[in-house]
Amino acid sequence: MLWWRENLATGIKRIDDQHKGIFEKTEKVLSLDSSSDKKAVNDTFIFLMNYCVNHFSEEEQAMLEYGYKGFKHHREQHNYFIEELYKIHTDVKTNGINEDALDSLKVLVIDWLANHISEEDKKFADSIN
Ligand SMILES: [Fe+2]
Ligand SMILES: [Fe+2]
Repeated sequence: MLWWRENLATGIKRIDDQHKGIFEKTEKVLSLDSSSDKKAVNDTFIFLMNYCVNHFSEEEQAMLEYGYKGFKHHREQHNYFIEELYKIHTDVKTNGINEDALDSLKVLVIDWLANHISEEDKKFADSIN
């Protein structure tokens, strides 16, 4: 699976399964372009929105339970992703499927994977293991 490695595991099964899910979905996001069909693009947005809302709240609940010191900063990053996703999706709804919006979406998802999961989620994982 793309980029997943065991040292990213938090040990909380649901969170780890969701992380694997977003790594899997990244290949789909990277394959989108302005000629992709509307349904494929829309399904990807719906997946990401659902993922953000459910995964982030689950992770934040675990952080509250563990009394994680980095909670505030971590939550700010989650909120940033949701706001960016909202902006990109609004762009597509207003202007149609366009390369700029899809490029922004790809950067966001890569940034999320490369930086957020491997740095911020990893810090939380290290603090509870
Ligand atoms: Fe996170
Ligand atoms: Fe996460």
